[in-house]
Amino acid sequence: MSDYVEIFEVGPRDGLQNEKRQIATKDKVALVDCLSGAGFRRIEVASFVSPKWVPQMADSAEVLAGIRRAEGVRYAALTPNMRGFEAAQAARADEVAIFGSASEGFSKANINATIAESLERFAPVAAAASVAGLPVRGYVSCVTDCPYDGTVAPASVARVAEALYRMGCYEISLGDTIGQGTPESIDAMLAAVAEVVPVENLAGHYHDTSGRAVENIEASLERGVRVFDAAVGGLGGCPYAPGAKGNVATEKVHARLRGLGYETGLDSAILNDAAVLAVEMRGRAGG
Ligand code: HMG
Ligand code: MG
Repeated sequence: MSDYVEIFEVGPRDGLQNEKRQIATKDKVALVDCLSGAGFRRIEVASFVSPKWVPQMADSAEVLAGIRRAEGVRYAALTPNMRGFEAAQAARADEVAIFGSASEGFSKANINATIAESLERFAPVAAAASVAGLPVRGYVSCVTDCPYDGTVAPASVARVAEALYRMGCYEISLGDTIGQGTPESIDAMLAAVAEVVPVENLAGHYHDTSGRAVENIEASLERGVRVFDAAVGGLGGCPYAPGAKGNVATEKVHARLRGLGYETGLDSAILNDAAVLAVEMRGRAGG
């Protein structure tokens, strides 16, 4: 196994999408521009979903148009259907992502489709991306626990992960959406998924709601996973729920990985600047 571990920065998308106050496009662009110099290979900056469902992401095309694109960085966007894919392509996203769930309850609540229906919707997106030469990433949410259905069986995660992989996703990001996973449940889930998708094509996407995300990353490293999603400043918690936590903070993951002796290619000074910007953006969320 290599000593390099990649952090996939998702703060401008997964972090910001949860902020209730509308954040100005220029502030989002400034955050992405700061992150662009930190050494990331991939940054998720946009989401072409219904603006009624996620108002915060309504300016995704403007964000992609406004950022300074750094060489060697791929700027990614979520695309739940063909309409989203076409918008992402028009906005010159460098890669797209389709996002499903291992649990029926969350699938219905998040994208208004059963798991089977969602896979039917994703297939043409994956096909169109392949024709356009755009890499497609696949997300599976609720890989250990679902807010609607409770505990999720590892076999259910493996089924959806395999379907997305076979559809052409180059990487499957495994989401502990509500941050209830433990090193044990994450390990059991990874054991099942690694049977059907090569571990080199897996990523961990752990929310830090219970403060266990870093432990879960360590359990995943033991299993050979070498890509982790994180959000600078720990963006993603609810500004109206003090103490609530969002995505695991990039700088926290980075510090732990460096402590364990892994290379990340990231510049801690720039990460800290970006974290300050991110925290300020949340701090200004007063209304
Ligand atoms: P639907 O209601 O089933 O679909 O929504 P629809 O085709 O009937 O469309 C409903 C409305 O959305 C229509 O507008 C469409 O035009 C519009 P209306 O007629 O009501 O004015 N619409 C769109 N608008 C813009 N872009 C589009 C688009 N598609 C339809 N691409 C849909 C289905 C998927 C659209 C909806 O459920 C949706 O937008 N869901 C978004 C959910 C979301 O973004 N969740 C957060 C991201 S996932 C996540 O955070 C988890 C992750 O981080 C991993 C983890 O942590 O587990 C990835
Ligand atoms: Mg997430």
